[in-house]
Amino acid sequence: MIRDFDCLILGSGIAGLSLALKMAERGSVCVLTKKTVPSNTNYAQGGIACVTSKEDSFQLHVEDTLDAGAGLCDEAVVRQVVAEGPERVEELIQRGVRFSQREQGSAGEYDLGKEGGHSKRRVLHAKDMTGREIERALLDAVDTHPNITVLENSVAIDLLRSDKAGWAGPRRCLGVYALDKQRNKIDVYRSPVTVLATGGCGKCYLYTTNPDIATGDGVAMAYRAGARVANMEFIQFHPTCLYHPFAKSFLISEALRGEGAVLVDKAGQSFAENYDPRGSLAPRDIVARAIDAEMKKTGAECVYLDITAKGRAFLENRFPAIEQFCSNLGIDIATQPIPVVPAAHYQCGGVWVDMDGRSSLPGLYAIGEVACTGLHGANRLASNSLLEALVLAHRCGISAQAWARENPARQAVAEWEKGNASDADELVVITHNWKEIRQLMWDYVGIVRTNKRLQRAESRLELLIRETQDFYWNFTVTADLLELRNLSLVSWLIVQSALLRKESRGLHYSLDYPALRAKAEHTFLDKSILESESGLDVTI
Ligand code: FAD
Ligand code: SIN
Repeated sequence: MIRDFDCLILGSGIAGLSLALKMAERGSVCVLTKKTVPSNTNYAQGGIACVTSKEDSFQLHVEDTLDAGAGLCDEAVVRQVVAEGPERVEELIQRGVRFSQREQGSAGEYDLGKEGGHSKRRVLHAKDMTGREIERALLDAVDTHPNITVLENSVAIDLLRSDKAGWAGPRRCLGVYALDKQRNKIDVYRSPVTVLATGGCGKCYLYTTNPDIATGDGVAMAYRAGARVANMEFIQFHPTCLYHPFAKSFLISEALRGEGAVLVDKAGQSFAENYDPRGSLAPRDIVARAIDAEMKKTGAECVYLDITAKGRAFLENRFPAIEQFCSNLGIDIATQPIPVVPAAHYQCGGVWVDMDGRSSLPGLYAIGEVACTGLHGANRLASNSLLEALVLAHRCGISAQAWARENPARQAVAEWEKGNASDADELVVITHNWKEIRQLMWDYVGIVRTNKRLQRAESRLELLIRETQDFYWNFTVTADLLELRNLSLVSWLIVQSALLRKESRGLHYSLDYPALRAKAEHTFLDKSILESESGLDVTI
């Protein structure tokens, strides 16, 4: 089946939904989403960093962002995102998002949280369920909009490129092939504007705070289509993921540290000050490395976050979801320290875009976590990602509408060819490779890296990619196979970026290159160079 829309958005997190509402003012919008489990947005706890208090200023937010980014942020982008933040947050409030308010005193004033690297309280939140509240309000608006079609259980496979469709004009993106999981059919979606809003790639790692959707699909699709990808080595590890045999990927928000929680060892001794004078509230890269070092030094399986000083009434009111989750596992956070470990959390690099979300492939845009605008540099400041997604969605809406007006054509494209593909005989290959990738990324491409470990990871990943590609060409595609294909490629891109960076900066720490280079540079991944060096052909 071939379907046409004025705008095609892949992903239904904060970025995709915000943009859908903008684009629907001028035409038909289709949102394709895997949606088998909620997006990362739904899990956001801490909140949105935005200057709203009189004690704060744009300049301070800019400085904190630049400081966390370890010299690699694009300052013009930082200034723009910070300055446009208040208007975008106000728009969210107008759409019905209920941020927590201060309980005493001035009505209408928002309660502001604090997180690592922030010099002021500036994080708007809905208790510890900010993402859920934002997604609820955006979905309410999207679901009732006559111009928006949301297609769930739809997995985008690959982008449609004009030259592949036999069109002689300048190369551009024409839409996407997507698998409808319910019909088990692959459809063609055509549009002058295709937007990647597919989120990050936390599932590349064995331990992650991310839900199952985070398999790096957008970066993989963009790379295969020849769009520019950058800075993939900067994977942010969140310092405090709950450590418990029955808890998968549950985050203990940095906002707890903002309210006074302290990282301690088994004996109850605070240790973060030994690594940075800001202690438990230093930027994330520093705190995650401190925990990693502490665990390696002592052989401990985890460290602890102690917020017992705040008392039960405060914790039940400010962090109800975390308090309840821990309590269900038998951890009373009002009286016991919480066992925590670092886990892969956020992809700072991604599809390289300008301030309007334009990628290097005309007609293809990227916004939200999948994109690399230059805001985060080598390490994202906490709670800046929801902000970036909102600002970029707004700007992308304006620029994509103009592009669509000037480039309205819909080219003829071929339907998906099934060829001789048959149903796979041995699905164990998929589950085995999936586990192997996540384990090797954790062991060899984690918080502290070496050349030797990266090279080991590289050669294993190349084998796994070849095996997965073989599977992809010979057997009927399934959602699991598509995700494995993306996960293996994105893991390899992380390794390629890491090998290119011959220094330690922000989230990339190498024992072989412990120093910081004088000149801060992005790592761009050029498909034709990488392909000729590795012999790895991932052409669509
Ligand atoms: P997502 O919200 O991840 O949405 C991606 C969407 O793309 C999903 O709908 C998915 O189904 C869809 N998708 C993916 N691949 C495909 C495909 N092939 N085809 C179709 N659809 C596809 N940031 C903050 O600023 N503040 C916080 O407090 C905060 N807390 C966090 C807590 C947790 C536990 C986590 C995991 C992250 C947190 N972050 C926070 C980061 C932030 O939540 C994410 O960066 C942000 O929500 C990403 O939004 P997004 O719209 O780009 O992508
Ligand atoms: C948290 O609440 O600790 C997550 C905030 C973020 O990732 O920005």
